[in-house]
This record gives sequence, C-alpha cells and structure tokens, in this order.
Amino acid sequence: MSQTSAATYDAMHARSLSDPQGFWADAAEQVSWIKRWDTVLDDSNPPFYRWFKGGVLNTCYNAVDRHVEQGRGDQAAIIYDSPVTGTVQTITYRELQDQVSRFAGALRAQGVEKGDRVILYMPMIPQSVVAMLACARLGAVHSVVFGGFAPHELATRINDAAPKVIVSASCGIEPNRVVKYKPMLDAAIEHADHKPAACIIFQRPQETASLVPGRDVEWNEAIAKGQPAECVPVAATDPLYILYTSGTTGQPKGVVRDNGGHAVALLWTMKHLYNAEPGEVYWAASDVGWVVGHSYICYGPLLYGCTTVVFEGKPVGTPDAGTFWRVINQHKVRTLFTAPTAFRAIKRDDPNGEFIKKYDISSLRALFLAGERSDPDTLHWAEDNLEVPVIDHWWQTETGWAITGNPLGVHLFPIKYGSATRPMAGWDIRILDAEHKEVPRGDTGAICAKLPLPPGTFPTLWNAEERFVKSYMADYPGYYQTGDAGFIDDDGYVYIMARTDDIINVAGHRLSTGAMEEVLSSHKDVAECAVIGVADDLKGQVPLGFLCLKAGVTRSHDEIVKEVVALVREQIGPVADFKRAVVVDRLPKTRSGKILRGTMQKIADNAEHKVPATIDDPGILPEIAEALKSLGYAAKYDQAE
Ligand code: COA
Ligand code: AMP
Repeated sequence: MSQTSAATYDAMHARSLSDPQGFWADAAEQVSWIKRWDTVLDDSNPPFYRWFKGGVLNTCYNAVDRHVEQGRGDQAAIIYDSPVTGTVQTITYRELQDQVSRFAGALRAQGVEKGDRVILYMPMIPQSVVAMLACARLGAVHSVVFGGFAPHELATRINDAAPKVIVSASCGIEPNRVVKYKPMLDAAIEHADHKPAACIIFQRPQETASLVPGRDVEWNEAIAKGQPAECVPVAATDPLYILYTSGTTGQPKGVVRDNGGHAVALLWTMKHLYNAEPGEVYWAASDVGWVVGHSYICYGPLLYGCTTVVFEGKPVGTPDAGTFWRVINQHKVRTLFTAPTAFRAIKRDDPNGEFIKKYDISSLRALFLAGERSDPDTLHWAEDNLEVPVIDHWWQTETGWAITGNPLGVHLFPIKYGSATRPMAGWDIRILDAEHKEVPRGDTGAICAKLPLPPGTFPTLWNAEERFVKSYMADYPGYYQTGDAGFIDDDGYVYIMARTDDIINVAGHRLSTGAMEEVLSSHKDVAECAVIGVADDLKGQVPLGFLCLKAGVTRSHDEIVKEVVALVREQIGPVADFKRAVVVDRLPKTRSGKILRGTMQKIADNAEHKVPATIDDPGILPEIAEALKSLGYAAKYDQAE
C-alpha cells in the first residue's frame, strides 16, 4: 500500500485524539439511533466518562432487525459448525430475528425487564448468541460465564450480578468428555447467597438435565410461555453486559460495557481494523465466555451485517489439525481471529502444513491474533503457510476492542515481529515510569492510556466504583493503567512484554495467580504458598505452585500435591490448568516479606535475572532451583548482587 494511506491513518489517529467528539460523532453515523445523543462525551466527572449521553438505541435492533429491514433477511447471520457433534447449521438474519424475539419473550415471561441481570452459563452453541441478543433486546444485562469455570466461580458471579434468571444448557462437549453443566449450575446456586427466580435450560441430545420443579424451565417450554418481544429502547449509557475477568484476588472484576459506545466502536473496528465488508464471513475462533467472543463472535460481525461462525471444537483433535482449514474452505471464511496458542497447537501437530494443502483456503484475507503475546515463530509459520497478512493486536476484557493493532482497512503498516503495531483510534498510549514520567522511546515501563478512553471501553466495574478507580485510575492520575508493561519504538510501534501484576495468560485465558493461591492456602496442610506462571511451548504460560507445609505434617508430598491440584480444579475449574506443584521448605522473600515471584519465574524459565538486593535470604534460591529441576525445569539461578 502507498505512503498516502499510512498518512491517512496517521491523520485519522491524530484527529481521534485532538477532536474525539467530532471523530466519534462521525463514527456513530453507522449506528441506527432511536434518539441521537445530547453530548458526545460527558467528561464532567473524571475518571467516569460517558459517551453519547442522551442517546437512545437498541443494540439487538442494530445487530439483527435492521439487517432484515435492509434486505439481509435471507443472508446467513450465524453458521454453527460443531465438529464435536458433527453438526453444521445455518441461521439467517430473519430466522435469528424470530429466535431472538421469541427467546426475549421467554425471558420476559420469567419476569426479566430492562436493567435486570441474566447470567448465561453456556457452551458454544447458537442458543448462546440468541440468549445474549435476547437480553440486549429487552435492555437486560447479560453476564456470560465461561463453561470451564467451576461452580464456586459461578456462585461468586451469581452473588455479584444478582441475576433474575440464569440460562444454561444440559452440557458442553469437550473432545474427551461431555461436561454436564446442570449439576454444576445446581451446586453454584446452592452455594450462592443470591437465588435466581428461574433457570431456563437448553436440553442437548447428548445429555438430558433433570429440572428443579418450580425453578427450572426447558428452553422451548419457556418460549411457549411468552410472546415475541420487541426491541426496548435503552440509553446509550445503559449497561449491555457485565463480563467478569480475573483480578489479583479471588474476587473477579465485573467489567461493564454500555450500549452506545460499544456499538459505535465495534462498527469502527469492523471496517478500519479488520477490513471486513457486510455480507462476508467473519470467524472468531474463541468462546462466548471471553471478551473476544462477546465482541467478535456476537456483536461486531452482527452489527456490521457479516456472517459469524459459532465453532464448537478445538484447533486440534476435532478431528485433526486441519479443522480450521476445513471450516475456512466450507464456509468461505474471509477473516479469522484466534489466539496464538491455537496456532502453536496446529503447528505442533502439523509442522509442515500438510493439512492446509488439502483445502482451498483462498477466501481467507487475513488472520488476526490476540489474547497473549504472539511469538515470532508462530507468526512466521502462519504467514508462510496461509500467505495472508498475520496481524497481532492487543486488547483486554476491560477495553472490549483493540488498543493497538495494524489497521488493515486503512493501511497495512509493515509488520514488526513481536509488536502489536500502532495505537487504534482514540488510544493515546504512553509508557510511564514509577514517577509517572514518560520514558524515552525504546525504554520499558507501564503501558498507560491517557484519559478519556475511547467509546466501547469500560465505564466502570459492576458494584465496585472504588475498585475501578483504585485498580486502574489511581496509580497514574489522568491515565488508565493497563497492567501490561512494554515499550514504543522509534516508529511508534507498541510492544507488549509482560503483565505488571499477578495475572498470567494460559492458552489465551487470563487467570489470577492470587486466586489460585487463595485456594492452595485453604488446604489444611498448607502453611504458605506461591503460584507463578512458567513458560510453556503450547499454552504460553502454565501455573506452577510452591507449597510450604505446616510444621508437623508428615504425609506424602505427592498426595498433598494431588489434593491441591484437585482443589483448584474443583474451586476454579479445569480452565485454570493447574496441574503442577512442588513442596519446598521456604519461599524466597524480600526483607519486608514480599514473595519474590518474579525471580522464581525467571529461574524456572531459565531467564537472565538479577537477584534483588532486598532479598532476605539468598540461600533459599538454590533450594527453589533444585525443586524446579525435580519438575523438569532447566532452572538457572544467579547469585545475589
Ligand atoms: N467447558 C468445560 N471445560 C473446558 C472448557 C469448557 N468450555 N474449555 C476448556 N475446558 C477444559 C478442557 O477440557 C481442559 O480440561 P482437562 O484438564 O481435563 O484436559 C482444560 O479446561 C484446559 O482447556 P484448554 O485450555 O482448552 O486446553 P486443552 O489442552 O484442552 O487445549 C488448546 C489446548 C491450545 C488446543 C486450547 O487451549 C485452545 O484451543 N486454545 C485457544 C484459546 C482461545 O480460544 N482463547 C480465547 C481467547 S482469543
Ligand atoms: P483478557 O482480558 O483475557 O483479554 O486478557 C488481556 C491480557 O492478555 C492483556 O492485558 C495482555 O496481558 C494479554 N494480551 C492480550 N492480547 C495480547 C497481545 N496481542 N500481545 C501481548 N499480550 C496480549
């Protein structure tokens, strides 16, 4: 592409920062408003900014009904492709409108009204998207909980969101097992202080859930009890959904997304970042339980009039490493979005890309990767084998869409491996040091975004305004602290290097080591513990626990390790992938008592590190290294300075 288009993007980005109101008001023309906004940006109460105040719309209308009205009724809205059940099913926009309005009626018949919360604990089936849109239709606030979370995690979210209704399915399907959702849902409700008035259960052929009389209603019966519901007008600033994500403790953060800014921002990205066109097939191979699933399985593609793919399977093993190429071929996928770990899994099973040669994937125009750092090897492999641009972009549950990326719809900047390219519109990214000063280009520091954040990001945390300020806005006044560290090079490319907190990234899933430590500490024999994320060829990182036992505990260490592994699976869920732990006598700490998790992680990863001068007893590190070696880690450690 020409220099002019690079300049076009630069001018666009510059305008988004110098004239955010004008920029986003123009972008908002893509949305069908019931009433236009009074103020584009209400900045009267920082750091609580509100976009499109006074505006009224309905997100479901924008994602479904208007496309039917504008002639897309017969176009596929959803392609459900499920290699784990052998199903391929197409739902047109007209059928989707019918299903969503009838399911919205079902929710209404159970008492759900505008502003009520509805928790969805669902597998990757089209009914999940239908239920999300049905909530949006009523102005109810959905909160999707990923199926790999255990009842305890679900209960925490039930207590916080206080849903009137919970929607679930009889089961999810993992390649090695049928995951029965209903017993987990029942356990969570029993455990929770808040009780929903009703549960609507979608019965799948693979498993029939038993229903609790008086509380549970089968999906079709629930629909039969209601009348198709119309789109309810909501304020642009009303919440569309809450999505819980890991914080540094066991109490997850309820990220809130509003209606107006969300629709505006996602529509902007569909064109400018992803270079998509209405009518094309857009496939985000993720899960509706994650933010990627919210933004790019459900809302983004549907708001834009694309066909979205709901894929129930894995990149490998369902049935093989060719499944992605089969889906691209069969459904003429134009844009693929997934996590780098999916490509690492495919590359591991099919290093020479033999499966790719079996399919015609010429419809594919670009691959987008996010969720974790894209390692250059994986990027090269994907580029060489797919022969399309491979674009790393960086974002978070909090932001709802990309903070940095390569704006394919405007200009494809030359790719630099290891960088997630340039800030997107509205993102004023600065790298700050501990004194809140900007560091020189090329130096690493805390990646912060100057406030206000653009539309579509989180206006607050559910039930936790103080936590919102304390966690994100307080340390660097005037900025949003992303929690990531990195640098910007001389060409303005942003590099995301590491988290600055105790969050780790396992197979593109964000997990809190603090939450795992809380679970380990609850074991009767554990006196003290630490969890770190260690490098893993497939999953990027995996958690590893260190346990110090209470005095007098003489039981077998192997048994205790097995018990804590089971406890994390039971309390947090299989998604935590907590499978490794080791018993040690002591943990390395600073003189003020802070556990040196970073140093332990570097030893495990065999990475260069300096032992902090503040360490209390450097003699513990050789013990840690030995323990790591016993687990098969290379475990190099340096002497204290
Ligand atoms: N319901 C119940 N259990 C689930 C689940 C769900 N929705 N999703 C995952 N799990 C379970 C898995 O069965 C597995 O359990 P196990 O310990 O009994 O084997 C565990 O949680 C870990 O799952 P996963 O992270 O998927 O690992 P895996 O080894 O099964 O597969 C990959 C590895 C790389 C193929 C897989 O992680 C993957 O496809 N990653 C893509 C990541 C992604 O889409 N990220 C979203 C952000 S874009
Ligand atoms: P989540 O909120 O689950 O989307 O996780 C967000 C976190 O994942 C970010 O804060 C980063 O640490 C990491 N992440 C997401 N995308 C990228 C990327 N492209 N490069 C590096 N890290 C990423």
